[in-house]
Amino acid sequence: MKHIEFSTPAGSGSFAGRLIRWQEKHGRHDLPWQGTRDAYRIWLSEIMLQQTQVATVIPYYLRFLQRFPDVAALAAAPLDAVLEAWAGLGYYARARNLHRCARVVAAEYAGRFPRHPRQLAELPGIGRSTAAAIGVFAFGIHAAILDGNVKRVLARCFGVEGFTGSVEIERTLWRISESLLPSAHIEAYTQGLMDLGASVCARAHPACGDCPLRTDCVARRDGRQAELPAARPARRRPERETRVLVLSDGQRVLLERRPPVGLWGGLLSLPELGGEDVAEFARRHGFRVRPTRELPALRHDFSHFRLTLRPCLYRLEAAEGRIGEPGWEWLAMDKIDSAALPAPISRILREAMKKGK
Ligand code: ADE
Repeated sequence: MKHIEFSTPAGSGSFAGRLIRWQEKHGRHDLPWQGTRDAYRIWLSEIMLQQTQVATVIPYYLRFLQRFPDVAALAAAPLDAVLEAWAGLGYYARARNLHRCARVVAAEYAGRFPRHPRQLAELPGIGRSTAAAIGVFAFGIHAAILDGNVKRVLARCFGVEGFTGSVEIERTLWRISESLLPSAHIEAYTQGLMDLGASVCARAHPACGDCPLRTDCVARRDGRQAELPAARPARRRPERETRVLVLSDGQRVLLERRPPVGLWGGLLSLPELGGEDVAEFARRHGFRVRPTRELPALRHDFSHFRLTLRPCLYRLEAAEGRIGEPGWEWLAMDKIDSAALPAPISRILREAMKKGK
């Protein structure tokens, strides 16, 4: 195995000390999941924060806790209720794993999360960095974290070349992260590392003048903040496209529950038309419909592909017999903002409403 060099700037021994002092003065102290040792709350926040920014997470986190105040409540809930509370946050595998994890903790650990990051990391949805963060914040355990923001701070500060998502560079960064742990104030240190990465050490236009590590930072010394960390090697996401039907009767719009597995599994969404034309769809269901307006296509990036949604706006003119099928729901237009829908679907519906449908 190739050994990867990273330079150790002078004074790196005080990396943790500087960060802890900076966190006390400039870091975040009033996030809703701070000031508690409740592992359930900390775990929930860390899962929500895995791919989502703090400002987006806060209202979801608070609502989720009202609905599922502890592990027992979450473990006892049906998956559908969990998915509904998660709707809009994206990356729904997180919600499924969250639910599975709650069930494992309830059944195998008597409802109490294990303390050790190695045990935590065996639970569904908890990777090494999340396990360490829970260990630190809930139990004061000394463990190193390495999420996307922390990778950026370390790659810049220590001049680590290469794509930080590669196995090799990750190994180097874990080694650095572990080597920097302080012997005291692990919570403030860990929060400081997260906060610095989320604010001062932003990907674009970092505020290096405000950084407690500025005198040691290799990227700053060499003026290479824009080059470190290195960009992901070019990779084209596969493109997918689908037509969705926006059918309204003037007051309500037709929604359909998605199959339990796959994209937006179990969530309400707009009916997908596949290759079928709308007249055919209507005939099959005994409707008469007329096209209304055009809506622009909407692109949405998932982790593994890019989806183009082409909305087809129609008005229900008449229906012979039932206008219901299993899995269908007619949603009142004024409930669109509060309904648990995938974010791009909400956007299409809001756009459709704006156009006066
Ligand atoms: N990102 C991941 N975990 C976080 C936390 N505990 N506080 C703020 N941002 C975070």
